[in-house]
Amino acid sequence: MSLKFEPLTPDFGAEIFGVNLIGNSSDSLIEEILDLWNEVGGLIVIRDQILTSEDHINFSRNFGPLFGDLNNPPLQDTVSRYIHPHFPQIYRVSNQTDNKGEPIGRKGAGTYWHSDVSFRECPAQASILHGKVVPPVGGDTIFANQTKAYSSLSKGMKSIIDSLSAWHDFEIAARTQYAKPILVEDDIGVKNRALHPIVRTHAVTGKKSLYVNPGFTSHIEGFNNEESELLLEFLYEHCIRPEFLHRHRWKKNDLLIWDNRTTMHYAVMDYQDDQPRYMERCTVIGERPA
Ligand code: OGA
Ligand code: MN
Repeated sequence: MSLKFEPLTPDFGAEIFGVNLIGNSSDSLIEEILDLWNEVGGLIVIRDQILTSEDHINFSRNFGPLFGDLNNPPLQDTVSRYIHPHFPQIYRVSNQTDNKGEPIGRKGAGTYWHSDVSFRECPAQASILHGKVVPPVGGDTIFANQTKAYSSLSKGMKSIIDSLSAWHDFEIAARTQYAKPILVEDDIGVKNRALHPIVRTHAVTGKKSLYVNPGFTSHIEGFNNEESELLLEFLYEHCIRPEFLHRHRWKKNDLLIWDNRTTMHYAVMDYQDDQPRYMERCTVIGERPA
């Protein structure tokens, strides 16, 4: 069998047609999806997937172990309130509350450029997001191709950043994104802080990508603050050039698979609370960036 797909942009992302991921998908289908995912730079859209949370988890495990899986670490304690009560692998993003007024998901998750969980020693590789309730318009997610962002730098700039590492720290986003009583103070510190190369090499494709993000990167190792800020600001401006972007407009039952090793993303919060949005995410634990 051969996958039917169309590119989302000339060199980044693909939409797959005619597959149904309910239950256990065949090994050959999974292999084809994984190959295509790697080939197109780590962004796949599959529409019309009517999946239970269990289907979603089963499919996601083909990529690797999940945050929240038995014997694997969970996400930060701060977001434990947004984890699905029956499925510890499912992180919920939503602007809605239940009948007791409790949020049924993280409101305004990822409304800044970031790569998921980059503050861990072993950050996320794939994130697999299922749009269960989406506004008729608004609430798009924008993706930025960090392989192209790297490859379009000059030889001179590449040679400067190739050997550098930067610190990633949950605290950077936490201090501005979470109200005081929600933030679990124990999340601030070494368990959510990690040093990663600014340029990482993909474990499967061998391609290099930029790996810094305004959401979680705090500073460049070995540089003073002014130097670090200057270089990071240049990289942040460069890495979201329009040529590197794809903007996804959600429809109900869309399944998106992105590779956090090669992309960043930004959730656009331009919709109101009377426009319900409810998404479920499985997050695959990746290797240590190198
Ligand atoms: C995420 C995230 C994007 C969105 O789930 O990792 O950043 O559009 N969400 O909800
Ligand atoms: Mn995210």
